[in-house]
Amino acid sequence: MNVIITGASRGIGKGIAQVLVKAGHNVGLLARNKSELTSLKSELDAVGGQCEIESCDIRNHAQVQDAIDSLIDRLNGIYGLINNAALIIRKDIIELSADEWDSMIETNVNGVFYATKAVIPHLVNKKQGHIINISSISGRMPLEKGSGYAASKYAVTGFSESLFHEIRNFGIKVSTVFPGSVNTRFDTDHKDQDNSWKVDPDEIGEACLHILNTPDQTCISRVEIRPLRKS
Ligand SMILES: NC(=O)c1ccc[n+]([C@@H]2O[C@H](COP(=O)([O-])OP(=O)(O)OC[C@H]3O[C@@H](n4cnc5c(N)ncnc54)[C@H](OP(=O)(O)O)[C@@H]3O)[C@@H](O)[C@H]2O)c1
Repeated sequence: MNVIITGASRGIGKGIAQVLVKAGHNVGLLARNKSELTSLKSELDAVGGQCEIESCDIRNHAQVQDAIDSLIDRLNGIYGLINNAALIIRKDIIELSADEWDSMIETNVNGVFYATKAVIPHLVNKKQGHIINISSISGRMPLEKGSGYAASKYAVTGFSESLFHEIRNFGIKVSTVFPGSVNTRFDTDHKDQDNSWKVDPDEIGEACLHILNTPDQTCISRVEIRPLRKS
């Protein structure tokens, strides 16, 4: 199947791409960093399957539409979209600036909407497809020193779980994934600590693969993935 993944230059998005390609799927990868995307493409081309990349800023509606159109064209169709790109700024309300709030909402919420809007006509036309939205535990539980991030992820959860009801009768599946702590460079507050206890990004990829592989009439609508031990 052909799957587009946003935020695929590193971290969880890269882990998902590696797992899907190893399983024989074709991927279209989006992020801003062209050199990271290019080096991931070289790695995945050696594994097999088709990997196409597009550099774009998920906050820019026109760029997202163009990039997704181009990926769908080069992949010759789309089955799945994994909305994964996001930004976290761990500050409380005293410290968080309006610009920082805006950049989290634009990346984490608007970006999910723009990418989803770009793929919907293709999925509706085919009467099949699957959208997986990467929310967070902070999309259903409070996060101290993270009210802006939590607000953006609660929005993703609300959008994703409502979308499931809006498009299920078109034969399109929507799944919401709620990771706990994952070993990426996402939360820079903890980058110098031992993060080996956290979930490996590949494990989120394995979960997405499982979610994508359910029978036609079945949809896994929510999945929560946490590290077994806390530190
Ligand atoms: N890591 C965790 O503990 C954790 C826990 C729960 C949920 N999550 C969720 O998992 C997802 C991935 O997180 P991660 O840990 O893998 O983060 P990460 O390592 O920081 O990677 C974020 C990805 O998003 C892309 N991105 C950020 N801003 C973008 C923009 N404006 N336009 C296009 N792409 C953009 C980045 O690429 P460029 O910089 O190249 O654009 C990168 O590929 C996020 O939705 C996050 O909320 C993470």
